[in-house]
Amino acid sequence: MGFGQNFTSLMAFSRYSDGQWQTPDIRPLTDFNLTPASHVLHYASTCFEGLKAYRWADGGIRLFRYRDNIKRLRASAKALCLPMPDETMLDDMIKQAVLAVDSEIPALPKSLYIRPTLIGTEDNIGAAGKASKEAFLYIMTSPVGDYFSGGIRPLKLLIDEVNMRSTPTFGQVKTGGNYAAALSSVIRAREQYGADQVLYCPQGNVQETGAANFFVLKDKSLITKKLDGSILPGITRDSIIQLAHNQGYEIIECDFTVTELINWLPQSEAFLSGTAAVISPVGHLIHNNKTLAVGDGEIGRQTLAFREQLTAIQQGNQVDKFDWVTQINERC
Ligand code: PLP
Ligand code: COI
Repeated sequence: MGFGQNFTSLMAFSRYSDGQWQTPDIRPLTDFNLTPASHVLHYASTCFEGLKAYRWADGGIRLFRYRDNIKRLRASAKALCLPMPDETMLDDMIKQAVLAVDSEIPALPKSLYIRPTLIGTEDNIGAAGKASKEAFLYIMTSPVGDYFSGGIRPLKLLIDEVNMRSTPTFGQVKTGGNYAAALSSVIRAREQYGADQVLYCPQGNVQETGAANFFVLKDKSLITKKLDGSILPGITRDSIIQLAHNQGYEIIECDFTVTELINWLPQSEAFLSGTAAVISPVGHLIHNNKTLAVGDGEIGRQTLAFREQLTAIQQGNQVDKFDWVTQINERC
């Protein structure tokens, strides 16, 4: 099982029209009708979330930090002038979408990836400068394994100092346009350099990759770009910061340059963080056609330890002292 091509049979759905959301329902995950003039198809009024549910060994189904995804979806909706579903409705729809497909949730270490999606559906190509008055909100789910093919392995990133994945203020919005904007550089990195991902570093300032935040571990310091609107405020990012802080690491959220990063490489570890990426080690960076090893180029020891701690909390093998997991079913 890879990532993103298998879906469960049902989704939660609600439609916004005449200034209100319809009562959500659970329906088959089949095609729905959009007119060719739909706002989203022309003016990219779309945002989404990514979170996971886990079926623990005790039969309980747990969501990881889902309230943070609800907050971020609402912030994205606001930035895109889309109708904003309230927290209670989203809370309910996420739980219903997962419970409805109980029998399709895979056993650990796999999980159920949950993809709440909000799109502007007003039938009006004249509304380029207007908010869509209609919208669909749907929550589809997908049983998943590893995001990166080949399991846990040291990834290779291409440092891109020319392109940006988003804008200085829209990087924090989880909107489809940001991913479309990054596509050509990601494809080039893969085809020309055999890279797994692009590390966006516009004007030499290290940001994040196309689908995950970026971290460096140096001595007992954890270094990552500060949140300034240009990168996604990752929920996994925040979880790692809390885990590391709890273990006495110095947390450095700051701006840093490619030059600084390259100087740190021999004594460092680096990794990506995200719901899909979990914690994925970085083994090499490609810069100006040179391949540079991060540490010894292998999976970092501390990186692996963080990954094990995070997944142990998500999968019920370690006490959840941060109160990150929520059980949503009656235990069997
Ligand atoms: N940055 C980008 C661009 C992403 O697409 C993601 C994935 O959601 C992340 C960071 C990590 O965010 P999170 O940890 O909330 O999944
Ligand atoms: C996630 O990690 O949830 C993402 O959204 C990344 C990606 C699959 C686009």
